[in-house]
Amino acid sequence: MAENNMSDKERYLDEIEDSIRTIGVLTSGGDAPGMNAAIRAVVRTALSRGLKVRGIRRGYHGLLKEEIIDLSARDVSDTIQRGGTILQTARCQSMRTEEGQQKAAAICKKYGIDGLVVIGGDGSFAGAQKLANLGVNTVGVPGTIDLDIACTDYTIGFDTAVNTAMEAIDKVRDTSTSHERCSIIEVMGRDAGYLALWCGIANGAERILMPEEHDYDESAIIADIMANKKRGKKNYIIINAEGIGDSINMAKRIEEATGIETRATILGHMQRGGSPTCKDRVYASIMGAMAVDLLCQGKTNRVVGYKNGQYVDFDIEEALAMKKAIPQYQYDVAKTLAL
Ligand code: ADP
Ligand code: F6P
Repeated sequence: MAENNMSDKERYLDEIEDSIRTIGVLTSGGDAPGMNAAIRAVVRTALSRGLKVRGIRRGYHGLLKEEIIDLSARDVSDTIQRGGTILQTARCQSMRTEEGQQKAAAICKKYGIDGLVVIGGDGSFAGAQKLANLGVNTVGVPGTIDLDIACTDYTIGFDTAVNTAMEAIDKVRDTSTSHERCSIIEVMGRDAGYLALWCGIANGAERILMPEEHDYDESAIIADIMANKKRGKKNYIIINAEGIGDSINMAKRIEEATGIETRATILGHMQRGGSPTCKDRVYASIMGAMAVDLLCQGKTNRVVGYKNGQYVDFDIEEALAMKKAIPQYQYDVAKTLAL
């Protein structure tokens, strides 16, 4: 087509076709509700830009095993409301080795994948960075229930997981009140306490234990439980983050010291399942679309984020070097409200 007869859209598509023709997409690490909405957005945005899309099953593990399928708009129909990931996910040790990374980059080239969207957490982004260094254009989309990615205020899956946990904790509180017990409820989060903090506030817990404040004083908790009992409180809820763990032994120690029946409930993987909330679907859709657009603009080694009310992108290395801390004020509020 003669260049001066082209519309702006045709010129844009022409420029894209020069650099990126095929986009690959994979989900990696722990699954998170909303990952399907992100996959769907990647697929449909790429197709609408005239690109081909390849889905890689089982994260980097599937990439190394060449589990690669073509994806059409219909393949992602009826998926936005589904939990889990239709591409499956995995953790893959070989991707941590130079040999594995080189093989993965060679497989991307073999399948003509010149732009790769990696939906996952920090670990998955580290893998994407390695691939970018080996010439595969990559963009990361933050998908984890843990909310522990420093470059973004939001990670896909957190909203659904925290609501699932909140509802479960409400139910535990009902039975805890009936039996006048102390309940220790363990929530996920790996080394981060965001799920614990948010549930602590949303469920009105008496105590929140988070790895960020790991030197908690168990004897002070025991004294507090006794004082609460004297004041006529019918239950005592402790939200314990997975990063502290040991809930079952903690329950035994507390029961022994207080004489009050104490039960531990570990919510576990139920927090990772279920239909994504509206927030997870919408943020995932926008972030997935944005990842494709960044690749189309010739960007690589980037990660999408949501910061201070804006969708943004960062260099992966810069993003991985950022630090995120539990906001002290929020923790203080949780303690004040537990009085
Ligand atoms: P998440 O992405 O949720 O943080 P993981 O930390 O388990 O989950 O990482 C997911 C996968 O990303 C790992 O199984 C591995 O294949 C890859 N990965 C993690 N760290 C690195 C690294 N430093 N270099 C290359 N690949 C990595
Ligand atoms: O990163 C998500 C997460 O659910 C963490 O909260 C938890 O520590 C971990 O994954 C559990 O991993 P797995 O599913 O391999 O047991």
